[in-house]
Amino acid sequence: MGTGLRPLIAGNWKMNGAGAALEQIARLNTLLEEAGEVAADVLLCPPATLVHRAANLAEGSVIAIGGQDCHAQASGAHTGDISAPMLVDAGARYVILGHSERRTDHGETSAAVRDKAVAALVAGLTPIICVGETQAQRDAGAANQVVAEQIADSMPLYEDASQTIVAYEPVWAIGTGKTATADDIAAMHTHIRDLLVKKYGSAGEQARILYGGSVKPSNAAEILRTPNVNGALVGGASLLADDFFSIIVAA
Ligand code: PGA
Repeated sequence: MGTGLRPLIAGNWKMNGAGAALEQIARLNTLLEEAGEVAADVLLCPPATLVHRAANLAEGSVIAIGGQDCHAQASGAHTGDISAPMLVDAGARYVILGHSERRTDHGETSAAVRDKAVAALVAGLTPIICVGETQAQRDAGAANQVVAEQIADSMPLYEDASQTIVAYEPVWAIGTGKTATADDIAAMHTHIRDLLVKKYGSAGEQARILYGGSVKPSNAAEILRTPNVNGALVGGASLLADDFFSIIVAA
């Protein structure tokens, strides 16, 4: 199940990068062109202020551009927010939703994440829905239950789950340099695959499940050959083109 899916290597720049960081996209494009064909889809999600320029720069390349969040409404009185159609208009093709930093910093609930995911799909964006347990939840033996609830409540009810991507990011592994063991990743990704198949039937076998949390050039190959790992969501190591390229090559 879930094997043979083309991996997605997605970079999440978070709140990092001004105009000068676009050089990294140009550099990544050069590296990818020199490498010839790559065996993975490549995505970069810069801050919203850079989406349009990044999309222009990446046009005609294998690099897709995405947002890091969107609002559930298409437009309206929501100061500071950005809608899914606006991201599409700026050139985005994907959007990260329900990242643990947004769940923590902005109190995003799984129900809110689901509404955003529906808005993204309606607008033609591919949502990447993030789930993952905290250290305390893992220590309490609740990791599987927490992730099951997040999947149940954050994923759209749409039949075609193959258009939706899940990113498993254990909160304790994000930005900490700690990664889950290959066995733990395999167990959780298989658990998520089972949940998706239960929820969506055969479409659940087509949904890509990314791993995220301190993925870097030195651990990418091992993580990416773990069963039911269909790519990676990379934070810190996506900021530098050479590091990110090494992870793409590992796929
Ligand atoms: P990290 O972040 O790779 O810096 O741990 C991953 C993420 O939060 O998406």
